[in-house]
Amino acid sequence: MTIELCHMALRQTLDLISLTDSTLKDLSRRKFTSDELYHQVLAHLLGGKGRRGPTAIFIALEGPNCTCCSGRVFHLREGEMIERSDVITIEPESSYAISLVRVEGGTDVVPINWKDISGSIEEFQNFFHPSVVRAMGDPILNFVSCRISGGSPGVLVAFNYPGGASEYDADVLRSAAVVIGSLVTVSDEMRETERAFAYTIEALARACEAAEEDTGRHVVRVNRYAGALAANMGFNLAFVEDVSISAQMHDVGKIRIPAAVLLKKGPLNHREMQLIRQHPAFGLEILGDSPRLKVARDIAISHHENWDGTGYPKRLKGERIPMAGRIVKVADVYDALRSRRSYKGPMTHEEALQVFREGDDRINPEGHFDPAVLAAFFKIEGMFETIYDSSVLKIAMNGKKGKANSKQPAPAE
Ligand SMILES: [Fe+2]
Ligand SMILES: [Fe+2]
Repeated sequence: MTIELCHMALRQTLDLISLTDSTLKDLSRRKFTSDELYHQVLAHLLGGKGRRGPTAIFIALEGPNCTCCSGRVFHLREGEMIERSDVITIEPESSYAISLVRVEGGTDVVPINWKDISGSIEEFQNFFHPSVVRAMGDPILNFVSCRISGGSPGVLVAFNYPGGASEYDADVLRSAAVVIGSLVTVSDEMRETERAFAYTIEALARACEAAEEDTGRHVVRVNRYAGALAANMGFNLAFVEDVSISAQMHDVGKIRIPAAVLLKKGPLNHREMQLIRQHPAFGLEILGDSPRLKVARDIAISHHENWDGTGYPKRLKGERIPMAGRIVKVADVYDALRSRRSYKGPMTHEEALQVFREGDDRINPEGHFDPAVLAAFFKIEGMFETIYDSSVLKIAMNGKKGKANSKQPAPAE
């Protein structure tokens, strides 16, 4: 191997390591598709100034019956995928399918140049599916093909390395295929775990609703208002997603409050009030110590704190209140105002806005809410109205309107 080739190999290996590293670090957040990953790996490995790479690559995934492949031809220039073909499907019964599916990893990854197996360049084209040849534009002069294994099996076929395909090119492509295969598998599993996580916390939130006989979809709406606020305030997508799914856990601690207290029609006595005020601390305990539930814990413990330090349970003040809790507080109060309670009728959107502007006997907007969250609320109050109204409409369409209106959530105590 020449010094120049050594340098190139080292650079490509380091690129691959840093890409794998950065991808693994935020895998759960990015949830990239296989297609995005192919772009990243291939653009890092096979393109770019000073890098040696093919001019085009056919990336095809196996169909469910493992007999055919479909994918696209991507044209590369200077580290960018500059063009991609329409989807090419290789028919299961064609000889091309057999050769693609049979491409195996390991020693079977061999560079092939037209002179090795064919009398002429024109004849050489016959080895490839006509759609691939068409998508290539220029005649195919050489190629390396390699199998992608793992959860989404397929093949990479790289075409037209300058000066001919070499063993070195085969090694680089094999590395790319291994990285793609393993990252896609890990990513799919992360996605599955994330789905299971979302399902679990939804189930827990539903269990709490059942304890309150809340059929008003209060927690679903609070998720949506909170997500809209966080997005409007310019937080990053990860935080917005976290808040959008964790907000529904705000009252999870109420599961430990006896139904007789939660559903009591008349005013609560001092002891009962004290008990209800323990629900943030109960929520914190229930949510345990998983790092994945950090935002949910922040919300559970702080959604009754007030900006001026007059809230509970810790009487936290200002920025000492976690941001997610400040956001959910606004969402929760809006929904409580709009909903029917045993001690009050439902408010219209305009009446609720009035309370957010001027307060009432229970709410002091300046004292209770973070001014930044309040400003975001006024900016997107129309969205709040739509979220509430469409949710109530959905319940009505399910034929449950009367029931839903009579069983709204307990007060946001
Ligand atoms: Fe609460
Ligand atoms: Fe609530």
